[in-house]
Formats: sequence, C-alpha cells, structure tokens
Amino acid sequence: MRTVVTALALALALAVPAAAAPPSQGAPPPGVPPSRTASAPTGSELAQTPPLGWNSWNTFGCDINEKLIRDTADAIVASGMAAAGYEYVNIDDCWAEKERDPVTGTYVAHHERFPSGIKALADYVHAKGLKLGIYTSAGTETCARTMPGSLGHEDLDAQTFADWGVDYLKYDNCNNQGVPAQERYKAMGDALAKTGRPIVYSICEWGENDPWLWGDSVGGDLWRTTGDITDSWSSVMSLLDQQVGLEAYSGPSAWNDPDMLEVGNPGLTQGESRAHMSLWALLNAPLIAGNDVRSMPAWARNQLTDPDVLAVNQDWSGRQGAKLRDDGDSEVWTKRMSDGSVAVVLLNRASAPATIGTTATELGLPRAATGYRVRDLWTDTTAASGGRVRAQVPGHGAVMLRVSAGGTAGLPPMVAVDVTPAQPYVGGSEANTVTVTVHNDGTTAVTRARLALTAPVDWTATATGPTQLGSIAPGRTGTATWRLTADGPDLGPVDLTASASWIWRDRVFAGTAAGRFTVASPAPAGTSYLSDLPWLYAENGWGPVERDRSNGETAAGDGRPLTIAGTVHEKGLGSHAPSRIGYFLDSRCSRFTVTVGIDDEVGNQGRVRFEVWGDGVGLATAEATGAGAGVPLDVAVDGVDVVELRTDPVDGQNYDHADWATPVITCA
Ligand code: GLA
Repeated sequence: MRTVVTALALALALAVPAAAAPPSQGAPPPGVPPSRTASAPTGSELAQTPPLGWNSWNTFGCDINEKLIRDTADAIVASGMAAAGYEYVNIDDCWAEKERDPVTGTYVAHHERFPSGIKALADYVHAKGLKLGIYTSAGTETCARTMPGSLGHEDLDAQTFADWGVDYLKYDNCNNQGVPAQERYKAMGDALAKTGRPIVYSICEWGENDPWLWGDSVGGDLWRTTGDITDSWSSVMSLLDQQVGLEAYSGPSAWNDPDMLEVGNPGLTQGESRAHMSLWALLNAPLIAGNDVRSMPAWARNQLTDPDVLAVNQDWSGRQGAKLRDDGDSEVWTKRMSDGSVAVVLLNRASAPATIGTTATELGLPRAATGYRVRDLWTDTTAASGGRVRAQVPGHGAVMLRVSAGGTAGLPPMVAVDVTPAQPYVGGSEANTVTVTVHNDGTTAVTRARLALTAPVDWTATATGPTQLGSIAPGRTGTATWRLTADGPDLGPVDLTASASWIWRDRVFAGTAAGRFTVASPAPAGTSYLSDLPWLYAENGWGPVERDRSNGETAAGDGRPLTIAGTVHEKGLGSHAPSRIGYFLDSRCSRFTVTVGIDDEVGNQGRVRFEVWGDGVGLATAEATGAGAGVPLDVAVDGVDVVELRTDPVDGQNYDHADWATPVITCA
C-alpha cells in the first residue's frame, strides 16, 4: 500500500531537475500523468521494488495443499531463488472451505488439504525467511467458485489474514455482483490498512476499469493490467502488447502487473521463456514464478534467478521499460537505468531468426568518444560498440543487453554474424543464394575473419567467392556467399547454420548464426483455382480455412457451399476474419481474379475488409458486408513471388465469414 504523497513531498520531488530523457522516454502524451518519479515514495510503503515470489495457480490450479506450499517454500530456498530475492510464497484460489465458520463468520481453511490451517503455514514459511501470500475475490465467491469471496466481509477477512500472519493478498474480480470496482477494491484496501499489518495488496481486476488510474489511491501496491496469462507464446505476446501506454502509471508501491510468470512451464520453449522473462523484467513487472519450483530444470532456475536480469527489474529509474521501436516482427524495448545505462530487449516475434539492432543515439545515450560497453545479460559477455548495437535473435526469442557510454577499455569489439537467403521461398528444385555477414560494430579492427556455411541435409553449398576475408575495419562488414542447390528437396523449411571466426589482439573469437528459407511447391502453370493449389500458410480467425466450402461451424470440412448474395460458387476459400493465406507464385503469374463477400450463412451480419498483397505490398482492397453483394477484384500480379489474401474485421470479429469465391490465378 502507498500513502498519499504530501504536498511538501511532492513539491520537493518536483524541484529535482529532470534527467535528460532518451527520445522514447520523453514527455508523456497529453492526458497521461508524468512519470511517478515526481511522487517519490516515503520509504515506509510496501513493494518499493516489484515483488518477487511464487504463486500456485499457473501450474497447480485448485490442486493445492499445505505440503505443496511447504515443499515449495523449501525449494525456493534450496534452489537459490530466495537468495536471488524471491520472497513471497502465494496461495491462489481454492484454499478454503466452501462455507464460512457458522459462528464467527471467518474463513475456514480446507480441512483435508490445509488441515494445519493457514497460521501454521505462515509460521513455517516465515521460519524459512519467506513471506506468505493468500488469495480471495472481491465478490461473493472466488473465480473457481470453491470458496466464498470477501465482498461485504472485508474487515473480518482482512483481520483474519492479519491474525494468521499473511503478508500479501491477491484480490480477484469474480462474482462481483456489479458493485463498482473502485468501491470494492477500496473497501479491502481500507480493511487491510486498519489491521495495521503490512500486507502487500495485489489488485487482480484484469485491467477492466483502468486500475492504473485508481489502484494506488485505494491502497494497491500492484494491479493486473490484463486477463490471465497461459503458457503459450501468443499469450505472452498479447499481454505484452497490452502494456504499451501504461508506462507512466508504474512506480514504487504501484506496479503494473501483466500477470504471473510462465517461465519453465511446458507451453513455452526455453527461448520463448527467456524472452518472457526479459520483457517482464524490463517492464518492472512483479515477478511471481508460476512453475513447479520443486522439480524445475536448471535452465528455468537460471532464467528466474539471473542476477543481471533481476537487477534490471528491481532498478527504479523513473519509469518502467517501454517499446522504443516496432518494425513488425522485430521490436526494440528499452529501460533507462538509474546509473545512466540503458537495458535493451531485442525481440523477435517471427519464427525464423532475425538480426535486430538499434544505436546508442536511438537509446538516448550521450556521445562517448571511446564507444559503448554492451553486456549481454543472458550470455554474460561484454563487448565494445562504436554506436551500433545489433545481434542475431532466434525466432520467438529475445536478446537482453545493457548498454553504457564509455567503459570500453580492454573490451573486444561487438561483432554480429548473420545468414540470409536471397529468396525466402524457392519452388521445388530451384537454387538459392545465401549470404553470411560479419558486422564489426566495434571500435577496433578484427583480422583473419573466416566464414563458413554448413550445407543443409540434401543440399550442396558452393562458395561463390572467398570465405577467408582478412581484416574487417570497425563499422564495416565482411560477407561471403554460397549457392545452394538440391535435387528434389523436401518441401518445407530449410534451416541454415553459419559460423565465423576472427582474431582480435591474438585472441580467437567465434560466432554462429541461423537462418531459414522454405521450399514451396513449384508455382502453378496455366490457369488454376487457388483452392486447388497448396498454400504456403493459412491463418484463420476461427476454425480452419476451408477449400470450396464456407467457414461453416469452424471444424475442418464442416462448411457449406460458398454462397454470396444468393450466388453459389463451386470453387473458392472459406475463411473467417482476421485471416492470412499465402501462395507461392514465383514471379510466374500475371493475373488474379476473385469475388469477395460475406457468406450468406451468417445472414446480413458481418463486415470485412479484403486485401490482396504481393511480396508485402498492398495490391487491391475491398470492403464487404453481409447485406451486400460480392465485390469482383481483378489484380495484376506480375513479378510477385508470394501473394497473400488477407481479411480483417471492420467492426468486431463476429459473423465475419469471408469468402474468396472463384479465385482464379493465371500463370505462364
Ligand atoms: C482469475 C485470476 C487468476 C487466478 C484465478 C483463480 O482468473 O485472474 O490469476 O487467480 O482467477 O481462480
């Protein structure tokens, strides 16, 4: 909880001159309050830095008991998490009996699963040097509906928690009877304050009523900004996107909470998990582990406890990290650190590896004659940069760096290696050309650079020029290219692996890089219906894309004959907006004709924008409604390698059964 800042404290804080802000972190847009630096905390409030801990929900749901909580507390100590700063052991939903005590009205811990009661558990956890957290809802029941909520019982329940020795309350939003959120969350905030026990107050209102605007004033120390996380890459990316614009509302005892961690849970790869941890750390998110820490693999423990990454999370420099640049699948996120350095997350949302970069100027760092010190926080390597900061980032992955001006004496140059195919798609047995590049982003030259490409299985790689390059000056690149050929290769992705070595001051350095292209079915000849051809990819808003059928009820093959305004089309694609369907044309086709419209199966409902793109360039667009007729499109596709059919909802995503009827492609 956070006390109201006095006028004097505010005046004093405002008198502090503002630090020179990097471009991304300048004045907030109109309507957004200034960063919380202005209202510096008094020091007596809880959660001065984002809380670190564990919570039972993400892995165990309702399958919890006191032994799990005790064993987890043991594991938090034994694994080194406690030493790294993880403090709170939080019990989520389902810890209580369905009925309150008939006499006192207090919560009763579940007799079978928590027979010793919560007080005994708190004592156990405290004896380990840790703190205990508990959960309930600002409603009549909790979300799992296995136990009562606290609505109307706030004072009694807060006092019960305090008497038990609870240190943290997560207060959920289910079954709230339509009582305004601020009223419900203030009632509990006041009740917690009345107990006199310091209890961190975690508002779990899912961001529905902009809790960042009022959470602090009702006593909250952190507030969920979104719905629930799941252990999937799409969930992590979608929650991330919802943090944009909330930066200004975060600060000591007042943290934006994009939900608990899924680090180490099965739905994320190690690389995805690393990206998730990097981003949550940079956002000053509360880091509440949600995995089974009793049995976690070493990699998950290392990700959770990395001291450099945790240091970024725990540093309050005036504003949480924010997105600096968005280039589609490549993004740059930064956070200014209190020592003047900048923490950087290079995020690759695509599935193939990508080289992502920024510059010291873009990061807002001062000019430094001796260059910039760049530390990779996950690999623990440090290098000197002349100003460019670039790295290869694995697909669905992130690189996390900390960049400071100066301090480069004795550091090797920062060097990035990447490998890029000339064509992202080739048809059948077509050849491709692959370039390996060594970027010397340092301040001194490297010598004897050697580049190598490992030929993918079934492919032959022939270098088209020298692969031993000699010296590469600072700020320059060295490249070598290979021609790749194959006889009847398998369709699908071809993974490329390249390596490079170089010498700097008699020391040998090496780097590797990965890349990818895809072998597609050869482009069609003559005139064909797209629904008879294999697509490169097909993403659909609801259920699968159907061939020669409408989107139907969403299971594969359950569509109806494609029908737009009473006209039945024998051939075509039945999609649901938003959708993306790609076809490989290999520059061999000239014309695409189609009729787009909303299928009659949704009546007069639905409104969709249809677009045809060629190699990333928009070629044609049309809007259709359920009430309207089909719209014919006639699109020139000369020279296009990949044509993409896109649909997007115009006014909400319901009933958007989008038909590409009679889609004819004409090729040589
Ligand atoms: C809600 C919360 C989750 C979890 C569950 C428990 O969905 O947002 O974090 O606490 O309830 O039922």
